[in-house]
Amino acid sequence: MDTETLLIHAARQTAAVAHSVNPPLVRTSTTVFDSFDAYKQAQGTLVFDGPRYGRSGTSTTFELQRAMALLAHTETCVATSSGLSAITAVLAAHAGPGRHILVSGGVYGPTRVFCDNELIPSGTDVEYFAHDADILSLLRDTTSLVFIETPASLTMEMWDVPAVCAAAHDRGVPVACDATWGTPIFFDAHALGIDISIHAATKFINGHSDLLLGLITGTLAALADIRTYCDRSGTHAAPDTCWLTLRGLRTLAVRMERHQRSALTVAQWLQSRPGIQRVLFPALATDPGHKLWRSQFSGAAGPFTVELAPCSEEAFTRFIDGLSLFSLGTSWGGFESLVMPAVPHHLRALAAPSYAPRPVRFHIGLESPQDLCDDLAAALAAVQGDGDMDSQLQETPAPSSDQRTTHG
Ligand SMILES: Cc1ncc(COP(=O)(O)O)c(C=O)c1O
Repeated sequence: MDTETLLIHAARQTAAVAHSVNPPLVRTSTTVFDSFDAYKQAQGTLVFDGPRYGRSGTSTTFELQRAMALLAHTETCVATSSGLSAITAVLAAHAGPGRHILVSGGVYGPTRVFCDNELIPSGTDVEYFAHDADILSLLRDTTSLVFIETPASLTMEMWDVPAVCAAAHDRGVPVACDATWGTPIFFDAHALGIDISIHAATKFINGHSDLLLGLITGTLAALADIRTYCDRSGTHAAPDTCWLTLRGLRTLAVRMERHQRSALTVAQWLQSRPGIQRVLFPALATDPGHKLWRSQFSGAAGPFTVELAPCSEEAFTRFIDGLSLFSLGTSWGGFESLVMPAVPHHLRALAAPSYAPRPVRFHIGLESPQDLCDDLAAALAAVQGDGDMDSQLQETPAPSSDQRTTHG
């Protein structure tokens, strides 16, 4: 079955019961059983494997988990309360005193914050690596997980996923990947060797900017410890959230195609604008990660990062405030375009506080790309008149690609 067909027909097993095209929304804390035998059996089952108690999910949760596993071409899926809780569940399930976890540089800021403030103080040795690192030489006998995010948040660096997986698997180490950017529509994570694929379904999968949800996919064996961790820590997704995400999932393929087309149009247009130093978007032929992107992804939806030519804080503020179709806020993957200027907090997460020029992330929504370019043109006009920018342009050299990779 093609992905487009699967998205429409998966996750409707319980719909027939309600004589509806949509599966019913089942909310409950208490699950009731027909017999003592059924009750005893449920208590003995694997966590999240069937109705047991509200925390392990209802039929609505199971429908979404099944659909996501099918979409990701793997056996199973665990839904959690947010993308971040999916990430922390995967990391925590592999952490512990004496264990070593390799984490790719440039990961989503809060991933690094969790490693630095929760894992390291409790005895896990977390080591960040750059995209050109020799993974094999970094693996130790105590390495329990390699965690990557591709492309990296903000810097948009690509990772050679098959090479990372081959090296890790050679030592029997599983590889987890935050695959939120590509979604299973554009990034077939498990086919490339990823054992544990993580999605902030908050973004494209739901697509409507009205909920938070995490989805983790993989084989039953690869996800066994993660399920146990989620059960023990009470990390679970609400049925309402799963139901809404199922609704979003139906249109995922169509939305992704449109996001991709518009993001490319806007990114290419931005590349040619004065005042724009660089556009970091692997789908562009000029991007250093373009070759890797072509070999691993079947599409690119954005978001992407833009480096503005250096300018004064006032001009920068005028540019951001001058945008009217781009809402100013964090997140991405929804129907609406967003501008996300990097603040010191984001730069600290990269361990590159002096990163210049200042990066700005854009998410291209479902508006007309022409209207979005017009909006950007008007806001850029406010920056171009900046005297500071002209002088700083002469004083501040563009960062070399090496500078982009020293945040490990
Ligand atoms: C790459 C990436 N992973 C994970 C997350 C976390 O998702 P959530 O906001 O659902 O916790 C985000 C959120 O921005 C993200 O950008």
